[in-house]
Amino acid sequence: MPDQTLLAPEHLQTTAPTELWLAGRQTASSTGKTFPVLDPATGDVIARVADASLEDATAALDAAVDAFPLWSASSPRRRTDVLTRIFELVRERTEDFARTMTLEMGKPLAEARGEVAYGNEYFRWAAEEAVRIPGRFGTASQGNGHMLMTRTPVGPVLAITPWNFPLAMATRKIAPALAAGCPIIVKPSSDTPLTLLLLGEVITQAFAEFDVPAGLFSVLPGRGSAAMSEHLMSDRRLRKVTFTGSTPVGRTLVRQSAEHLQRTSMELGGNAPFVVAADADIDAAVSGAMVAKMRNGGQVCVAANRFLVDTSVVEEFTTGFLAAVEGIHQGNGFDDGVTLGPVITGRQRDEIHELVEDAVAAGARLLTGGEIPEGPGNFYPPTVLTDVPADARILREEIFGPVATITTFDSLEEGVARANDTEFGLAAYGYAGGVASAQYLTENLQAGMVALNRGQLSEPAAPFGGVGQSGFGREGGTEGIEEYLDIRYIALP
Ligand code: SIN
Repeated sequence: MPDQTLLAPEHLQTTAPTELWLAGRQTASSTGKTFPVLDPATGDVIARVADASLEDATAALDAAVDAFPLWSASSPRRRTDVLTRIFELVRERTEDFARTMTLEMGKPLAEARGEVAYGNEYFRWAAEEAVRIPGRFGTASQGNGHMLMTRTPVGPVLAITPWNFPLAMATRKIAPALAAGCPIIVKPSSDTPLTLLLLGEVITQAFAEFDVPAGLFSVLPGRGSAAMSEHLMSDRRLRKVTFTGSTPVGRTLVRQSAEHLQRTSMELGGNAPFVVAADADIDAAVSGAMVAKMRNGGQVCVAANRFLVDTSVVEEFTTGFLAAVEGIHQGNGFDDGVTLGPVITGRQRDEIHELVEDAVAAGARLLTGGEIPEGPGNFYPPTVLTDVPADARILREEIFGPVATITTFDSLEEGVARANDTEFGLAAYGYAGGVASAQYLTENLQAGMVALNRGQLSEPAAPFGGVGQSGFGREGGTEGIEEYLDIRYIALP
């Protein structure tokens, strides 16, 4: 049993379990090791969590392989019922999930509640889709036979999930995998393992109620993420890896997948532009900009990294945006009225600050923020920079924090060309008033997802994913379930 010493004040304690979920059981790591989880708002240790070993990972894969035949042969309606039950249980425990997320990740409680609702929708969507997995029938082109196309589950899946949305980034992998008929092993970020350990409790309860094989789902928190994924991927029984995280780690996983030709989905880094055309409604653009930039403290792959604004409206946009940014209330996510929490770690905060300092040294103008406050906690203030030189690192790299850069353009063609001047291609935002400028933006912004006159595009029913160095594969929508299905062609007389 890991040392469950909780040092945070009593009202901040989590109800989440702290041991591994290994095929329906809470167990200590086979090595007996644990690691601390910290509250980013205070630096306090909030729990010690079992540190999964390679032996634990093999045990989880053995259980997944054993559970696969029964689950993959189960009726679509049964999968719907199980996923619906998980959805109901998560909804009932919204407050437990939200408090756990605020505690280990730092986001304001209202945002954490929003993430529970959003993340849980992936279960509802997948439950509704499990009974609609399509097939196709046709006549062979020469008329000498028929063709039947069916879909079969790919097999055991490894999901590696990030800390920024501890629940939602996992549910959008777990729900479609289960709907497709696959077992799944989840490796949560070591910064935020508690949320998924809590989800393990809920899923285990739903599985027990429906007598579903418990080996379908395991949660393996641990510090050795690279070693664990390498170990599991060296086993040919693992058939799919789905990852949300940085582009360099994604590349390593894709390389490793070559050995056994495992299927991969890679949701990687972004550098989203937010283009404001001369004819845009500027009040609407400011509201959208606040969401696109400040949601989750800017710690979002699809966060707007670069605001590109037509010179004729930049003053109005900047004045409105600055006023809105100065109205942000930063603090501990549990406190009333707080709209911005800390960033996840001290290292992350220092990396954000380096980008700001580099831009200022290169000639950017700091309109607000830009100073690291006294501790405790990993706080970085909401920051706005203008006149950022084109070669500043902050325009090339993902910021992942509450920092906005504003630059200008003189024609929409120039604005879009600059927006597309990035190796990433996850999301892009455009604000325009007229049909021609709106159409120009949606047709020419190069990204897997383009939002027009909206600051938020994430949606369980839509395919989330990027192009270029932002990765490949989609999460959400019918496309999200396809990621867990192979196509079988049956030739018939
Ligand atoms: C992400 O950070 O990967 C995106 C989260 C979301 O908006 O769904």
